[in-house]
Amino acid sequence: MNTAGTHAPRAGGLFVTATDTGVGKTFIACSIARNWRALGLTVAPRKPVESGCPLRDGQRFPEDAARLAEAAGLPPERLPEVNRYRLAEPLAPDLAARLEGRPLFLRDLVAASARPADAWRITEGAGGFYSPLCEDGLNADLAEALGDPVLLVAEDRLGTLSGCLLALEALDRRGLKVLAVVLNRRRTDAHPAMDNRAELIRRSGLPVLGIKEGTPAAELDQMLSASSSSIVSPPVPGSTG
Ligand SMILES: Nc1ncnc2c1ncn2[C@@H]1O[C@H](COP(=O)(O)OP(=O)(O)O)[C@@H](O)[C@H]1O
Ligand SMILES: [Mg+2]
Repeated sequence: MNTAGTHAPRAGGLFVTATDTGVGKTFIACSIARNWRALGLTVAPRKPVESGCPLRDGQRFPEDAARLAEAAGLPPERLPEVNRYRLAEPLAPDLAARLEGRPLFLRDLVAASARPADAWRITEGAGGFYSPLCEDGLNADLAEALGDPVLLVAEDRLGTLSGCLLALEALDRRGLKVLAVVLNRRRTDAHPAMDNRAELIRRSGLPVLGIKEGTPAAELDQMLSASSSSIVSPPVPGSTG
């Protein structure tokens, strides 16, 4: 089914999206960035717009972008490469930007996510796959415009299968390749018979990684590096084209 896109730029990046906000996109993206760095790759993290930025030394400070920059080994002065738009209100970015009187458009976010030729880009949007990002786009539209394969993050709880399957159907409709799903934050008191991971593997055929609540960063890095190589290895261009 993907044969029409064999020459499409599958390589060069990963877009991290989610079923919802606060489910671990930054947490997982940082681990992937550290893993890529450990493989000797130049990593270009992108969080083109961040809302809810607190004031630090009189300026808005993008905390997600700073975490991503650190994970990628970038010095603080390179933070503007990671994040161009820093918004005050903890709202969806389109609304936060409108409140500041400077509405954002998809072309602004695409430009702010530009990928250096020699680097592996890891992009985090804001919120879930269908969360609004700008006046004329959702996270899905930025993902589609960038064209990188996608990692879907979801919380591992009762009800998550519906959110995952809806997101996977939406990703498929937009022709985006999904590398894997990460089911994050499985609680220790989860029902022992609930196995979202097995269900999702069975119903989607995708690699699915499960991560427990409270997993330390170093352990997460190891889990990702030991997991299906499609999650952590950068999507290498097909050797035969
Ligand atoms: N498996 C986990 N174990 C412990 N803390 C986690 C885990 N996943 C996420 N967190 C923490 O939960 C919060 C929300 O995660 P974050 O990655 O910021 O979500 P998102 O980027 O999707 O909004 C952060 O403080 C993050 O460090
Ligand atoms: Mg985040």
